[in-house]
Amino acid sequence: MVRKWWHDKVAYQIYPKSFLDTDGDGIGDLRGVIRKLDYLKGLGVDIIWLSPVYRSPFVDQGYDISDYYAIAPEFGTMEDFDELLAEAKKRDMYLIMDLVINHCSDQHEWFRRALADPDGEYADYFYFRKGKDGKAPSNYRSYFGGSTWEPVPGTDQYYLHMFAKEQPDLNWNNPRLKKELFDMVNWWLEKGVAGFRIDAIINIKKDTAFPDYPADGTDGLVSCTRMVEEVDGVGELLEELKKETFEKYGAFTVAEVFNMKEDELREFIGDNGHFSTMFDFSAAVLSGGEKGWHTAGEISFEEWRSALFASQMEGQKVGFKANIIENHDEPRGASRYLPDHARNTRGIQMLGTTSVLLRGIPFLYQGQELGMTNCLFDSIEEYDDISTKDQYKVALEAGLTEADALKAVARFSRDNSRTPMQWSDEENAGFTCGKPWLKVNPNYTQVNAAREEKDKDSVLHYYRQLLALRKSDAYRETFTYGEFRPAFEEEKDIFAFYRITPEQKILVAANYGTVERKLVLPSGIKKQLLCNNGRINAAGSRIGLGSCDAIVLELDC
Ligand code: GLC
Repeated sequence: MVRKWWHDKVAYQIYPKSFLDTDGDGIGDLRGVIRKLDYLKGLGVDIIWLSPVYRSPFVDQGYDISDYYAIAPEFGTMEDFDELLAEAKKRDMYLIMDLVINHCSDQHEWFRRALADPDGEYADYFYFRKGKDGKAPSNYRSYFGGSTWEPVPGTDQYYLHMFAKEQPDLNWNNPRLKKELFDMVNWWLEKGVAGFRIDAIINIKKDTAFPDYPADGTDGLVSCTRMVEEVDGVGELLEELKKETFEKYGAFTVAEVFNMKEDELREFIGDNGHFSTMFDFSAAVLSGGEKGWHTAGEISFEEWRSALFASQMEGQKVGFKANIIENHDEPRGASRYLPDHARNTRGIQMLGTTSVLLRGIPFLYQGQELGMTNCLFDSIEEYDDISTKDQYKVALEAGLTEADALKAVARFSRDNSRTPMQWSDEENAGFTCGKPWLKVNPNYTQVNAAREEKDKDSVLHYYRQLLALRKSDAYRETFTYGEFRPAFEEEKDIFAFYRITPEQKILVAANYGTVERKLVLPSGIKKQLLCNNGRINAAGSRIGLGSCDAIVLELDC
């Protein structure tokens, strides 16, 4: 495996709108990020991923870009951005941008021009198609509900949008459009960003015949992912993108890829892959729900563990995956992957341990290091997220009562992780002195950075130790390149694995159950590296793990 600069780094996702507001408008901003760079550095973060900060109408919170070359005024100015970049560099930190190029906003100049002249040059930047028998060109359901086809006013045509109707899909068959996108990517790389998190990228390849498929819901539509799964050839587009842009700059890229075809992992993240890495969503997809969030069942500990282990085993054969427990689209990991009895400080530290020390690049999401949890919203009106509103509708249409529909979306709403960052126990969690754009989780009085700073047993202090261990001179090599090998799989409720090099053998073990368990180690303990309850209960090669205990041990080889 060819060694790359980013292999041993720790990344952190910032959702700028909810990070820190410095001008009192209730919306986080770039100056807020600058102000917290030392906090992030102190935590052990190397790479910062900024969710979109481009100009946008914010129909989908910035994932609908109306100007790829401008900073959203809500977030600040290009000068602020340049300052952030410079300040990050000063601290040996890397900044990566979100790259949203499957679609843009309907307010982008290209789309406005396309609408103004539906037979002109700019219409071919998008997918404009005539309807069929007075209906849409195909029967696809968009990711956010309803048809993927929206009528073009004053014509017999429709345009394609896989996400919201305000997010028209870009036509990657058009060389001129591609050039515009590549130039833009290079412009940001020239500026000094270290790379990109690449949004929804698998969707860029379309079957331009747009065939119908059998409906998969009572709405008579079929998920647009069906077409994505059927069509071949996305790899050629991804290679072109890489060659024309990232490769020239040695950029780091992490892709959001769902619906990849089997056996393509090497092409995606191998030594010469399309991307540096891609997120491991193997745990997240377990609870997607066949017919929407309201149909999602509970996942068992065993299912969760085996999904992650299988993904680790597969990943290490070809490259590095990016490990997450949450992000801006997913509920909080602490509210999702922990059993009820473990939803407390030690449980959250345990989840951090078994996630951060996996093989791959850890991507923390803002507030994860504080143990932030899902937030209960009192009504559907309180939510902002477009996807939550759609899923609520889907649940009602399936016959759920309003109360049950609200409960169903509460589990998975993307707003769970988008609530403002909890800095202190001051008003609005110290996020803003204005009115926050989204509800603050009422648990901020307990879960907040200022309080945790003073408490040596807090989640925050523990995350610092965890990242420091991962990056320490003595163990960095093993945590980065060491083999991942499952351990104690036959033990109920135990999540354990080894990280192994010829010189070192490290055991990471945690007890997700309620009763103490004894493990017999294959060799003696050389050194105790970390534990979340202050003491490791070891006698010779036997260790006892109480409920929610997590330990990291170096064993004799
Ligand atoms: C990705 C983003 C999500 C967004 C969607 C459309 O999945 O993570 O937030 O809504 O793409 O851009």
